[in-house]
Amino acid sequence: MKIVSHYGGVELEFDGLLAEDALDRLKRVTLANIPKSLCEESSDVTRFEHSVGVYHLACLVQADEEDSRLLKVSSLLHDIGIPCFSHIGERIMMKIHDFDHEKHGSNMVMDGNIGDLISKGGVEPCDVRDIFLKKHYLSPLLFGSMDLDNLDNISLYWSSIGEPVHYSPEGMASLFSVEGGRVLFSGTANDIAGWRRTRRDLYMSLNTVERRTREVMLMHALEMCAEEIPDVLFMDNCQAMAEMMENSGSSRILKGLENNILYESVVFKPVPFCDREKLEKKMAEKYPDCVLKIDHLKLDRDISFWDTHGELKEFPRTHKDRMHVGVYKPF
Ligand SMILES: [Fe+2]
Repeated sequence: MKIVSHYGGVELEFDGLLAEDALDRLKRVTLANIPKSLCEESSDVTRFEHSVGVYHLACLVQADEEDSRLLKVSSLLHDIGIPCFSHIGERIMMKIHDFDHEKHGSNMVMDGNIGDLISKGGVEPCDVRDIFLKKHYLSPLLFGSMDLDNLDNISLYWSSIGEPVHYSPEGMASLFSVEGGRVLFSGTANDIAGWRRTRRDLYMSLNTVERRTREVMLMHALEMCAEEIPDVLFMDNCQAMAEMMENSGSSRILKGLENNILYESVVFKPVPFCDREKLEKKMAEKYPDCVLKIDHLKLDRDISFWDTHGELKEFPRTHKDRMHVGVYKPF
């Protein structure tokens, strides 16, 4: 089946999966944590568009037929465990359900219909599960430091808001190969530099006081709703918004967001990298009536891949991690 993507037409195998609710739901979950309707500077590209993009990049990796099939279906499904409002929902999912989207997705691929469809496509569902749980030799291609997932999501998000992307996701994906149970990368530090630069530009752009305030308000509203209805996290963004509008506390916050009435930002500052739990405890004691959001700004990662000569190539990080403290006073 041919499907339109941001890379042009993509020939999709495993098209039976498209009818599955788990994949269809991603058409209504945005790649950005906060949708454009609640934050003007955000983007409305969806996790479904992104999943098809990652599938397309998987097709460009040089691998034998068996590995290629496994990588392709895992790419298409890699985000099915993501909650509504992506990482905003994930923080609450960790708190309430004590699992992240990879764990949730790994359970879903072993389940009924999805498991059957994967098997029919000639792939063992337990191999997909192992990729999601980072236990498979193909895991670094989807859940690694620089992988097909972030090659696509950075480029898709950044270009959707008209910003310049300094690398080619397709060019980078074709530098990966799989040989003898190992992921190899034939690119150079120069190839990686454009991806690093774009990623850093994007991550820095997300850290504005208005955007963080809006994210905190959405998180607060979702958490109130999830305390009453824990399954709200597994809904899509539209269903979750409707559910939140039924909750008096959540709807008050959402109405504020829609009318540009925001929480007051009491503290908004970067701090050197430190123990997050200790910092959270300290700030919670100091600002008992406020909502906290402490972000770990992962501006770069150490990257290492095997090269085609069987040598491990290391690409050390170019920017240090930072923490960022936000303290917001609810209305
Ligand atoms: Fe993803």
